[in-house]
Amino acid sequence: MAIRPYAPLDVNRLYDVCLRTGADGEDARGLYRDPRLLGSVYVGPYLALEPGLAFVLDDDAGHACGYVLGARDTVAFARACELDWWPALRAQYPVGAFADGSADAEVVALIHTPNVADPAVLAAYPSHLHIDLLPRCQGTGGGRALMTRLLAALAEVGSPGVHLVVSSTNERAIGFYRRMGFADLAASGGGLTMGRRLEPPPGQPGAH
Ligand SMILES: CC(C)(COP(=O)(O)OP(=O)(O)OC[C@H]1O[C@@H](n2cnc3c(N)ncnc32)[C@H](O)[C@@H]1OP(=O)(O)O)[C@@H](O)C(=O)NCCC(=O)NCCS
Repeated sequence: MAIRPYAPLDVNRLYDVCLRTGADGEDARGLYRDPRLLGSVYVGPYLALEPGLAFVLDDDAGHACGYVLGARDTVAFARACELDWWPALRAQYPVGAFADGSADAEVVALIHTPNVADPAVLAAYPSHLHIDLLPRCQGTGGGRALMTRLLAALAEVGSPGVHLVVSSTNERAIGFYRRMGFADLAASGGGLTMGRRLEPPPGQPGAH
């Protein structure tokens, strides 16, 4: 397996990885009527707006089987999404596009009213990330390698800290994040927010 920067040809495959890991880390294909909906929220805007913080894991056959996606400044990213990402999606998926109570409708609600990060978390952990690997690529160090690559890239662009939100029932991912140095910050609405401070790279101001 090998890690490389994201390339535009990866888009469809990465949307697919997102869907196949979108139910608490398990396959979500049976949950959603629209197979691109999840990716259009959790993958698309990162590839479009922060391509330099998107890294892909290829399997031994050279097929993308995992990714890590970052946003350097969560507040600026939310602003950029309002300008350049949500408007087209809101037109494509109006409120009411799917049956009330369906998984698709929940994602459409997010498109129209995106989650807002807690300012107290952002003060120390202004960046955020998403990471997903297909089952066949899990458990062999790929997650650690992707995470290490993104943390280094975030430190390189001057981020002092990164947070993420994970479903409180995704015990596997929570164990992974703790192992990767993330601490629990807050829990609400079925989600756990975790954060990790970042050291400036050697040679940069503040480096030890
Ligand atoms: C969670 C996920 C990213 C982890 O990636 P991975 O490739 O399986 O993890 P790795 O094999 O690289 O493990 C890295 C380290 O974490 C440890 N680890 C992994 N899962 C762990 C767990 N549940 N508890 C404790 N440690 C764990 C490993 O032992 C390893 O430790 P080491 O490198 O010090 O020996 C991956 O399993 C995944 O994509 N799952 C499905 C999608 C998902 O849930 N994404 C997160 C959504 S918020």
